[in-house]
Amino acid sequence: MILVRQIQVGSMANFSYLLTNPTEKIGTVIDPGWAGEEVDRTIKVAEKVGISIKHIINTHTHYDHIGGINEMMKKTGADFYVHGEEATQSGIKDRKLLNDGDRLDLDGLTVQVIHTPGHSPGGICFYVEGKLFTGDTLFVGGCGRADLPRSDPHQLYSSLYNKILSLPDETVIYPGHNYGERPTSTVGIERKSNPYLTCDSINEFLRRRMG
Ligand SMILES: [Fe+2]
Repeated sequence: MILVRQIQVGSMANFSYLLTNPTEKIGTVIDPGWAGEEVDRTIKVAEKVGISIKHIINTHTHYDHIGGINEMMKKTGADFYVHGEEATQSGIKDRKLLNDGDRLDLDGLTVQVIHTPGHSPGGICFYVEGKLFTGDTLFVGGCGRADLPRSDPHQLYSSLYNKILSLPDETVIYPGHNYGERPTSTVGIERKSNPYLTCDSINEFLRRRMG
C-alpha cells in the first residue's frame, strides 16, 4: 500500500503530491510547482515521515507545475521525468523522457504513464495502484482549459473520454488543482456529475469547454 500526501502549494491552489512505498522510504514528488518556501515545506513533510525525495515526475510544464523543480533537484538530488513533448518547455536539461504506456519503478513505486494531451500536448496522468494523478487534464467537477496556445480541445475530449473514462469507477482522482468541492474524487463520481464528462457528443463538449 503506497503512501500519498496531498500538499497544496502556491497562489493558484496547485496540488503537489508526495508518494512513497513505505518499505523503501524513498519519495517521488509530482509537480513541485512553486519555488522557495513551498519546496522547503514539501521536503519537510517528507522528512517528518522519514522519506528522502529522490524522484520528481511532472504532469505538464505550465509554470505553476514546474516552478519548484530546479530547486528541489538541487536540494534533494532527485532526478526528473517529463513527457518528450513537454521537455523543451521544462527548461531543465537534466531530464528523463516519458512516453505513453511507460511503467516506471521508482524505488518500489510502480507508476504507469498515460499520455493525455489536450490541455497541453505532452500532458500525462500517472496511474499508481488504483489512483490517478490527473494534472490539469481533469479536476474535481471540471477539466483543464483548452484555449491556451498549445491546447487542443479535440485531443482533450479524446483523453477524457477514451482514456480516463476507460478506467474503473473506483479509481481515485487526485487533481493538479484544488478547484472542486472536495480535494479528491473517483472516476465513478466524475463520470456521473462532471459537466465535461457527461456530454452526449464531442460537439457538446466543445460548446461547454470552449463557450
Ligand atoms: Fe496547466
